[in-house]
Amino acid sequence: MGIDLGAFKKGMRHLAASVTLITTRLGEERGGLTATAVCSVSAEPPQLLVCVNRGASAHPLIVASRRFCVNVLAPPHRKIAERFAGMDGIEGDARFADMGEWGVLATGVPVLKGCPVNFDCETLHTMVAGTHTIVLGRIVEVALDPTAAPLLYADGKFVPGDLFQNALAAG
Ligand SMILES: Cc1cc2nc3c(=O)[nH]c(=O)nc-3n(C[C@H](O)[C@H](O)[C@H](O)COP(=O)(O)O)c2cc1C
Repeated sequence: MGIDLGAFKKGMRHLAASVTLITTRLGEERGGLTATAVCSVSAEPPQLLVCVNRGASAHPLIVASRRFCVNVLAPPHRKIAERFAGMDGIEGDARFADMGEWGVLATGVPVLKGCPVNFDCETLHTMVAGTHTIVLGRIVEVALDPTAAPLLYADGKFVPGDLFQNALAAG
């Protein structure tokens, strides 16, 4: 007997998470999606995993290119988070136009500037899990910006992580 899907979705809203942008490039075509299903796996060797919906436009690019960057977004990136979640109707490579400053690290995929951290990865392994593909990545380069705070997502809402940091600092 299956569990109630509504309860699953409501329950998952309580898993507060950093909002990330998973970006990739296959040839000249760039792709990306907003994702919170990102998890640290191991430090030695440095590995993380992401869960990507098999229906997402970036999915075939991520799988075929075998490289991707996890860009941990900052509060000023909220509009970019909405764009890469498909909320403004702009699709594909055009998502990278007119928003955000982009660079590259070791793998050559698009890397968003102004993030607290970018994890540039090569794919080690993929595994289909229901509607999603679990992608295990070896982190080949890390870029840190100590001045940037993360953008969080909890209870269906974007929450600036600097508010959280202020609350922590206040005890
Ligand atoms: C806060 C937030 C978190 C998300 N997390 C994930 C995720 O971890 N994995 C995923 O596949 N989609 C996730 N999505 C949905 C994708 O961003 C969205 O389905 C995708 O960009 C739309 O597909 P498209 O590129 O085909 O338009 C999330 C969306 C939001 C708003």
